[in-house]
Amino acid sequence: MYKTLLTILENGILTIVINRPDKLNALNKEVFFELNKILEEIENNPAIKSAIITGAGSKAFVAGADISEFGGLNKEDAMALAKRGQDTFARIENSSKPIVAAVNGFALGGGCELAMSCNFRVAAENAKFGQPEVNLGLIPGYGGTQRLVQLIGKGKAMELLLSAHMIDANEAKQLGLVNYVTTAETLLEHTKKILDIINSKAPLAVAGCIKAANAVFDESKDGYAVEIEEFGNSFATEDMKEGTSAFLEKRKAVFSGK
Ligand code: COA
Repeated sequence: MYKTLLTILENGILTIVINRPDKLNALNKEVFFELNKILEEIENNPAIKSAIITGAGSKAFVAGADISEFGGLNKEDAMALAKRGQDTFARIENSSKPIVAAVNGFALGGGCELAMSCNFRVAAENAKFGQPEVNLGLIPGYGGTQRLVQLIGKGKAMELLLSAHMIDANEAKQLGLVNYVTTAETLLEHTKKILDIINSKAPLAVAGCIKAANAVFDESKDGYAVEIEEFGNSFATEDMKEGTSAFLEKRKAVFSGK
């Protein structure tokens, strides 16, 4: 069904593999088109509770935007390219279902930006993160200047953006860019275990947390007001009644997603 993505749906977790290993999974037009299609599927398919994004092969998560598509672009074309990338990654960030990056190698440029747009990141020991755009005479265009500052703070982000310096998985963990470092072999299993826990919670409450936490970084929104709204919304759900009753009755809650 997809040319540049492989997908596997298992236990409510959709694993999306960006599948251009001979180009280190670089993000070309087709990958963006298909990512947008799959984001729609994630929202609309009730069998999907959460998703993992990873890369094909053992070398790269995603080695960036496809540089071979940059030739001949003028300023307006480049702005449209950045807008498309930013819009796609904003859809990942704001998806009502959790989307997590399992970083299995190079996450450079657009690859690092893709990983940062996910709710959080788990990395294999061989993962490498960086924004090497200044090597090419350009700057990150898919949200990298913003999300790197948000995730690791301005000082370190500035150093990485300005120097194109790559960091390994352990340094990324120390900086808070990734939550866990695993072996390459256990990366997906570890990520799925975290999602199994999340998938056992009330889906609308999970979606409310994503919305409220993302509002911290959205200047058009008052995050505290979003939290009040989402808190109120949760009281109008069947799952809130089920969750609180189950606690009081000392039994495990069974959530319906309603
Ligand atoms: N866009 C397009 N093609 C890319 C790519 C990218 N971002 N990154 C890698 N590739 C391609 C290479 O051109 C090469 O293709 P080829 O075999 O047809 O020549 C293939 O993927 C393998 O990459 P290669 O550079 O030979 O692997 P390597 O192990 O020597 O180096 C990297 C790995 C990641 C260090 C190197 O590929 C690299 O620096 N990539 C670009 C990273 C970058 O600047 N990203 C930001 C883009 S805005």
